[in-house]
Amino acid sequence: MPKIFIYGTIVVIFLAMIPPAVIAWARAVNSSQPRIHLIQDMDNQPKFRAQHANALFADGRAMRPPITGTVARGRLNEDDHYYRGINNGQWAATFPPQVAVTMDLLQRGQERFNIYCQPCHGLAGYGDGMVNKRAMVLMNLGVNGTTWVQPKSVHEQQIREQPVGQYFNTITKGVRNMPAYGPQIPVADRWAIVAYVRALQRSQNARPDDAPPGQRVQLQSVSVQMRNDRP
Ligand code: HEC
Repeated sequence: MPKIFIYGTIVVIFLAMIPPAVIAWARAVNSSQPRIHLIQDMDNQPKFRAQHANALFADGRAMRPPITGTVARGRLNEDDHYYRGINNGQWAATFPPQVAVTMDLLQRGQERFNIYCQPCHGLAGYGDGMVNKRAMVLMNLGVNGTTWVQPKSVHEQQIREQPVGQYFNTITKGVRNMPAYGPQIPVADRWAIVAYVRALQRSQNARPDDAPPGQRVQLQSVSVQMRNDRP
């Protein structure tokens, strides 16, 4: 075989080893240069990035704020009764027409109340939830200077007299030391909770004739027995 073939083959083998060697090297070392970008497509083009400056505008910002008063589609929420609990400039005394107070709504309200309100206000709404109990212990022990305002009982006369719209607002925006739950609880669920708070209040002030006729006698005998059981 002519020597030229042997030498040629050796040279080709060496040349063939260069690309894998370069790739292996490139993978192993760091470089401050941007990587080689052979096919550009539309990857690089003039544009302004979020939060960057743009001298074109008077305020120097590339991002344009929405024009004052802009409302996203479907977010006008102009129904004061439903979205704010306000009717004719006052706290609404009734549920808005789109809220049907049904057993389903009360059950939803009970579930949501037990998730969002019960930790502070307690299962029955007396302001004696677990967070309150724990905070009272910490406060009485003087741990890290704990201070605590007890959650209101929803059975206090003054709270019972509040219209439903005011409860809705209390949940939405919070009140004094109570934080706002509007950002966490959707509007429909807030109304469900309001309905359940009313049910709780009723439950603690029920009269025998609140019960369906068939069960009244039974209830009366239970309450008589409870009275007799007292020391
Ligand atoms: C983190 C604890 C906490 C949670 C959770 C909480 N509350 Fe309260 N709530 C309070 C406290 C504390 C007050 C009393 C605030 C005060 O007097 O400064 C209060 C007061 C209230 C009042 C009385 C408002 C008034 O006008 O005096 C209502 C009604 C009420 N809460 C309902 C709810 C409902 C419904 C939920 C669930 C969506 C809820 N709260 C969740 C702590 C809480």
